Order: sequence, then C-alpha cells, then structure tokens
Amino acid sequence: MSSSSSSSTRRLLAASFTSLVLGASALVLAPSALHADQRPVPAAAAATGAELFAQNCVACHGAKGDGDGPAATALNPKPRKLSGKDVMSKISDQQIMQVIKSGGQASGKSPLMPAFAQLSDPQIKSLVSHIRALCACDFKP
Ligand code: HEC
Repeated sequence: MSSSSSSSTRRLLAASFTSLVLGASALVLAPSALHADQRPVPAAAAATGAELFAQNCVACHGAKGDGDGPAATALNPKPRKLSGKDVMSKISDQQIMQVIKSGGQASGKSPLMPAFAQLSDPQIKSLVSHIRALCACDFKP
C-alpha cells in the first residue's frame, strides 16, 4: 500500500468531484430557460468520463456515485452505489459497459437503469474509468 498512490487517488477524486459539482449545477440551471439555439451543444466526442457522468448519471447515481441523486428517492430498486468498493469490485468492466449500453433490463437488472445506446464505445469506456475512480477499485474476480 503506497501512500503516494493513494494520495494521487485522492487528488483525482477531488478533481473529479469538483467537475461533477460544476457539471451537475450546469445540468440543473441549463435547458428549459434557454431557446434551443442558445443551448450549449454537448461536446460528445471531447467529453471526459466525469462530464459524461455529470450529464447522464448524477440525477440518479449522485455526484459522487453514492446512489443518492435527486431522482433516487422515487426509484425502487435504488440506483447502484457506484462508489461502493465491495459491490463494484465484483462487477467487471465488461458488465458495466454492457449495462450502460443496453440498460439494466438486458442484464437481468431493473429497467429503471436506462440504456445509453447513443454513447460511443470510447465514451462508455471513459465512463467506466470514471466509475473506477469513484469506487477507487478494480474488478477482483
Ligand atoms: C433514471 C435513473 C438512472 C440513470 C439516469 C442512470 N442509472 Fe444506473 N442504475 C439505476 C438503477 C435503478 C440501477 C439499479 C439496477 C438494479 O439494481 O437492478 C442502476 C444500476 C447501475 C449500475 C450497476 C449495474 C450492475 O451490474 O449492478 C451501473 C454500473 C450503472 N447503473 C451505471 C450508470 C451510468 C454510468 C449512468 C449514466 C451513463 C447511469 N447508470 C444512469 C438508475 C439510473
């Protein structure tokens, strides 16, 4: 257990949390008040995992992946706690990609986890990396 690697993990988490908070507040403040042509165009190809997560996932999974987004109270089952090391280290990157791409139902989970078929494979991979930063864990078969 090297302390330098865990402090760089903390820095990474702090940085991604900051961008999530900014992203989440942009999400709350953004669309309806603006005319369509004034809305920011999502820079899909350039978006990082943190940005994609803020745009698509925080409403349910929460800014830090704690499963406590504003929409979570209305959901049953609750959104997965993506920050949970124990659970997330049992789920492979492949499974995570599949669930994001095809939705919960296709993997025998709740249909409340939507499919994000519009995201490209590289975008989904960057989301998986972001989730791995949130749980500070890797798949342990
Ligand atoms: C509308 C709410 C909602 C949104 C938006 C949402 N999720 Fe989920 N997600 C859920 C729920 C509910 C579950 C729990 C499904 C279950 O336990 O059966 C879940 C489960 C998951 C899981 C766990 C899968 C497993 O194998 O257990 C992952 C990973 C995940 N979501 C990632 C994401 C990512 C990444 C995004 C954004 C691209 C996202 N979710 C957006 C509601 C949501």
